[in-house]
Amino acid sequence: MNKVLVTGGAGYIGSHTCIELLHSGVDVVVVDNLSNSNLKALERVESITGKSITFYEVDIRNVEEMDKVFVAHSFYAVIHFAGLKAVGESVAQPLKYFDNNIYGTQVLLQTMKKHEIFNLVFSSSATVYGEPASVPITEGFPLSAVNPYGRSKLVIEDMLRDLNVSDSRWNAILLRYFNPAGAHVSGLIGEDPQDIPNNLMPYISQVAVGKLEYLSVYGGDYDTHDGTGVRDYIHVVDLAKGHLCALEKLKSNPGVVPYNLGTGIGYSVLDMLAAFEQAAECKIPYQIVDRRAGDTAICYADVSLTKADLGWQAVLGIEEMTGDGWRWQSQNPKGYED
Ligand code: NAD
Ligand code: UD1
Repeated sequence: MNKVLVTGGAGYIGSHTCIELLHSGVDVVVVDNLSNSNLKALERVESITGKSITFYEVDIRNVEEMDKVFVAHSFYAVIHFAGLKAVGESVAQPLKYFDNNIYGTQVLLQTMKKHEIFNLVFSSSATVYGEPASVPITEGFPLSAVNPYGRSKLVIEDMLRDLNVSDSRWNAILLRYFNPAGAHVSGLIGEDPQDIPNNLMPYISQVAVGKLEYLSVYGGDYDTHDGTGVRDYIHVVDLAKGHLCALEKLKSNPGVVPYNLGTGIGYSVLDMLAAFEQAAECKIPYQIVDRRAGDTAICYADVSLTKADLGWQAVLGIEEMTGDGWRWQSQNPKGYED
């Protein structure tokens, strides 16, 4: 377990996971094309941990360059974060998502097979549950795609199941993330959206710091305790630690298994807004507007399988998510450009 390849390791979740890997003594090699990230994130990971990372600025679709990385290193496993994740963009440009996410993963898997590396941890998403009929959501719920981004996750999950059928040496832990939030407690790394954020937490942070004027709350008439949408927000450091548990699980040759990474607790948009106001000690203006197409009212995880099989559970709550998120945003109002 001493050397791991992290694709997309310069990104939001990847950089936080690199910290946990380095802290636990794993040698980390990162491949990232920096299409949605900044090398400063990895420099800061190195300064937080006092350890170094081997970095390759490589696109996972580049067959020759990927091969060179696998020739240079002998990996125990790959943690695969690299991918595009903007739902709206995926609806407008599906081919971009199929090429980057699906073809990119195909190249990665071909390279792994060539070099006989059969252990993978994959960044899946709660989006694979489509519009769930009830909550909490267990891993056995029906899967469906409601947009091309979600389809790319489902296709990759299926590709991994097919590989295992063809050759039982293939193991993949499919980590289905709910709603990642927050930042490292140091305030040195965090989420740094390149454009106007689509997701709630980065949007709220940017209103709090004065970069955006007000939050549009998408729908105030859902059947929830205050009428706004409910989600399972999970601290990115808890999420990062889940990847270490997944690496450990791979040792038992588990095949292809999905696990939910969430807290099992749902908070509404207005709950998150109020918690952020407390953390930032300011009022955050908002307006309730129409529902956003494709949103469901309530989504939260059943995490009992993850607890039982991976020995993982979230320990950080809404105060840490908003407090740490605010520390990152207020110390770096322009993200890594500061
Ligand atoms: P991110 O954009 O911050 O990180 C993704 C990283 O992958 C970036 O550094 C980007 O430069 C890199 N990348 C993209 N395409 C690449 C390619 N072809 N070759 C090499 N590098 C490439 O996103 P994140 O929030 O850290 O998400 C990581 C993974 O988790 C993604 O696969 C995403 O779909 C998944 N996920 C994220 C969320 C979320 O809300 N953040 C939720 C569920 C699942
Ligand atoms: C979204 C994606 C999902 C993806 C996930 C992580 C959609 C429909 N779903 O999930 O596929 O896996 O991000 O990238 O895009 N909200 C507002 N105002 C905002 C932003 C969000 O009120 O400006 C609300 C939403 O209506 C929702 C909640 O906040 O109730 C969370 O939204 P968001 O952070 O975008 O996450 P999801 O919609 O759960």
